[in-house]
Amino acid sequence: MARKLAVFNMKGGVAKSTTVYNLAVGLVKFKKQRVLIVDIDPQGNASAALGIPIWKIDFQLKDVLQHKTPLEQVLVSTDSGVDVLPSNLFLAEEEIPISGRPGRELLLRKAIAPILDKYDFVLIDCPPNIGVFSINALMASDAVLIPVDMSYLGLLGVQGIERALTLVREQLEHPIEIAGVLATRYDRRNNLSKEVFDALTNHFGDKMFKSVIPESVRIREAPSHGQSIFDYDKDSVGALAYSQLVDEVYKCQ
Ligand SMILES: Nc1ncnc2c1ncn2[C@@H]1O[C@H](COP(=O)(O)OP(=O)(O)OP(=O)(O)O)[C@@H](O)[C@H]1O
Ligand SMILES: [Mg+2]
Repeated sequence: MARKLAVFNMKGGVAKSTTVYNLAVGLVKFKKQRVLIVDIDPQGNASAALGIPIWKIDFQLKDVLQHKTPLEQVLVSTDSGVDVLPSNLFLAEEEIPISGRPGRELLLRKAIAPILDKYDFVLIDCPPNIGVFSINALMASDAVLIPVDMSYLGLLGVQGIERALTLVREQLEHPIEIAGVLATRYDRRNNLSKEVFDALTNHFGDKMFKSVIPESVRIREAPSHGQSIFDYDKDSVGALAYSQLVDEVYKCQ
């Protein structure tokens, strides 16, 4: 049975999509895992990183959530070896209709249930908010991977994340765990990164991943070349950090 991880933080730009993409490619490349990315963010960034022409797709995740298209028709296998259920901005137009449906929180869980035995990992890329799509991602997951960028606002956002997880556990009765908190965009040249990292470690203790993702131009450049950090610059500090994360996620399966 697949391990299902939502990559979630309501704050934008903390490297959710970058982490989903590189972690997925790394799990395939280094651990020979079968990996599915579920892109439940209307920005479609994880889909685009995988080379999906998001403005030309005939079918997408929303069609599965609305029972309009069979899942097999929406699922795309990519050259990286990662499969994806893609999305684009049309997903956003469905937010209100989907929010009004009975059982709205469980649409994704039910949609992917039939294919879980085909995968070792399902990584769900969440949008930067706590709307119906993020709730669906959390309800479909065993655990949540929380990327936090090394900024003051990043630290401040932690309270909101914990509140959202409490809501899912208590109101929706889903015992979601924290797989780990990932420090991202760590810049050794400024003190703030260290201060935020120390505060996070104090708070989360052994829930912190040991891997720390550095602020890196190579990580930022890689998607524009259609490549993961491992293919774009395999000896870079960013590739090393993401390969350590791959090891950690693989081990705590
Ligand atoms: N370690 C890093 N070093 C430098 N740039 C990074 C790093 N990680 C991500 N970025 C860049 O920061 C931007 C935001 O990253 P990303 O899209 O992964 O964040 P996100 O949390 O998914 O954002 P959103 O909340 O909008 O979905 C992108 O331009 C990405 O290339
Ligand atoms: Mg994103």
